[in-house]
Parts: sequence; structure tokens; C-alpha cells
Amino acid sequence: MPIYHRMGNVPQKRHTIFEKPDGTLYNEQLFGTIGFDGMSSLMYHLHRPTMVREIGKSIDASPAIAVEKNMQARLLKGFDLQPQDDFLESRTALLVNNDIHIGLAAPRKSMTSYFYKNADADEMLFIHQGRGTLHSLMGKIDFEYGDYLIIPRGMIYQIEFEAEENRILYAESFHPIYTPKRYRNWFGQLLEHSPYCERDYKLPSELETFDEKGEFVMKIRKQGYLHELVYATHPFDVVGWDGYNYPYGFSIHNFEPITGRVHQPPPVHQTFETSAFVICSFCPRMYDYHPRAIPAPYNHSNIDSDEMLYYVDGDFMSRKHVEKGYITLHPGGIPHGPHPGTYEGSIGKKETHELAVMIDTFRPLMVTEAALKLDDGIYYQSWLEK
Ligand SMILES: [Fe+2]
Repeated sequence: MPIYHRMGNVPQKRHTIFEKPDGTLYNEQLFGTIGFDGMSSLMYHLHRPTMVREIGKSIDASPAIAVEKNMQARLLKGFDLQPQDDFLESRTALLVNNDIHIGLAAPRKSMTSYFYKNADADEMLFIHQGRGTLHSLMGKIDFEYGDYLIIPRGMIYQIEFEAEENRILYAESFHPIYTPKRYRNWFGQLLEHSPYCERDYKLPSELETFDEKGEFVMKIRKQGYLHELVYATHPFDVVGWDGYNYPYGFSIHNFEPITGRVHQPPPVHQTFETSAFVICSFCPRMYDYHPRAIPAPYNHSNIDSDEMLYYVDGDFMSRKHVEKGYITLHPGGIPHGPHPGTYEGSIGKKETHELAVMIDTFRPLMVTEAALKLDDGIYYQSWLEK
């Protein structure tokens, strides 16, 4: 999505005759979002992408809500989530609303026996542990620790892990995920003050084209259900494509922090945006360099958003007793801030090694039953003086 990309063979002019060696035609498919107004790509298939053989079972995969109206700061111990073999089964929604489902996954096995498509939502997978390859009909993307994978809605993919110890923070976004508009010029190019640029993207490479007929199971997420459809040809049968709508990766380690003499506000950490939430990267950086600066964040009233922070690595300057994989939720409507001692304790410090991902939603998040199983239950009292 960020820049024009082209792989394999495409005809010189769109919507014109494109012949296979045997004289029959390749099958063109427009793959776009927001009707015909959003970003799109044109793909060329060996076979019609419409050949459904059978409709299989449909299962309700919507999250069970425990707290619909939440006004409690929470701490979820993310690594307490038990690993499961299957990628989709391991995905556990924790904090949800009509705009986004945020969850964690700890899959042990690669997803290679079936294909998957999310028809409702763009997906963001943040790789906390593990490495492997995202396979899609638009090419491969190798991923590793620290990578964000942005997968547009409707993309058919499989995921391959090199080992069994995998930890993923994911978001299903019911709105398209973009780079922040203020970092783009009116041609779409990232500007000089952007904390990253086009060179940092991991674009699809090595188009994998399979000319196979048979039975190919595809699990399609739509309206909270997982529908199983059986296709007559291998879904990865694209010989070429071009356009702007495709999956891509970006490493959090390539985010260049913006710092200042005094404390910079959270928008400097912004990495992605939608119309309903933002995703921010808190990366190792030099602290504020005013001689009287207080590096720890001030208390703030996030009246207009719920804040979810996922702790990846390093020390966390404003939090006590935080470990990797922890999630904190600070609901809108009540202020939050540094824990006792950390505000004063940050004075004079030169740098931080914290690594965290924040998702601020503009509408309140509901808490799922699965989240309550990871909830320490006492975090909301952690600002009290002992
Ligand atoms: Fe905050």
C-alpha cells in the first residue's frame, strides 16, 4: 500500500488481452478497498479466482465480552496466554470495539494446511518472538522480531514459522491502516520529518505461482464468523500484479525516534493511523536534554481515547514491575501517569531502552473473557502511595 509495486508479468495496458503460452487468457482481478476509491492492485491469475467447489462449515469466532463498559485500568500478563498449535485458534481477542479487535497469539505451528483471508479487517501482526515467512498470492515477506506486518483486508495468506516459540500482538482493524497523513506529501511520498521512509518497508518478493487443481480449503473471517470454502485451484496462482494494495512489513527497529529538549507528546511515536485509532512505537532513544527536563511522561487525561500499551523489551521508565508481553489498558475518562517514584527517578537519565507498541482507540474498548484470565486485578491501585 505505501508505494507502487510490481511483480511478475503484467500486460502493457490494463484490461487488455494477456495470453498464456497456450493462447488462452490469464484472468485479471482488481483487488481494491473503499469501493473504487481506495488503493488497488491488478492481479493476473492462471485460473479464475472464483471457482468455489464446496461451502463448508461456518463457526462463530466472535470474542466473548466480559466487561462492556470498562472504567478500570488493567494489566494483562500477555505471556500467560497458553500457546496453541493452530495460528487462528491461538489468536485470542482481548480488547475490542466496533473499530478494532486487539489480541495476542502464541502459535506453535505454521499455517500451511489451509489458506486464510480476513474479509472484514486489515490485519496488523506485530512479531514479538519468532521468525518466518508470510506467504500470500502477491509474494513472500520474511519476518522477524520487531516486524509489523500490515495485511490489507481480503488478502489470502499463509504463515510459516521457523520454530515453535512465537508471540504475536495483533490487531484486526475495521478501517484501513495507513501511514500518518502528516508525514506524507500530496503525492503520497513520505516527507523528510517522517520517522521512517520508503526504504524501510519490507515489500513482497518472490512471487510464488502454483498451477494446481484439487481441493484447497480457505478460512474466511467475515462478520465474526470463520467460513470454510473449498476452492478448485491453488489460491496462489498469480503470474503478475501491480498497484498499491498489498501486504508489507516494517521493523519497529527502523523507527527513528523524534526527541526534544523537553518531553515530546505521544504523537511523535505514531507509526500508523486509521480513522478510529493510532498505532505508536516507543523505541530506544535519548531522553530530553533541557537541563531541568523531566523525562518521564506527565499525568495525562486521555479523555478522547482508551490507551493500550504492549511492552516488548527494555526498561519502562514510567512503570514499575512491568515485564515483556504485559499489556496495560488506561481507559479514557480518568487520568493516568507515572508510578510513585518514577517521575522524580527519571530526572538526569540520559536514555531509555524501552520498546513498546501503543494503540490508542478513539472509542472505548470492551474487555473480553479471555483478557480477564490474564488480568492481575490490582493494577488500578498501583498509583497509591505505600
Ligand atoms: Fe498514556
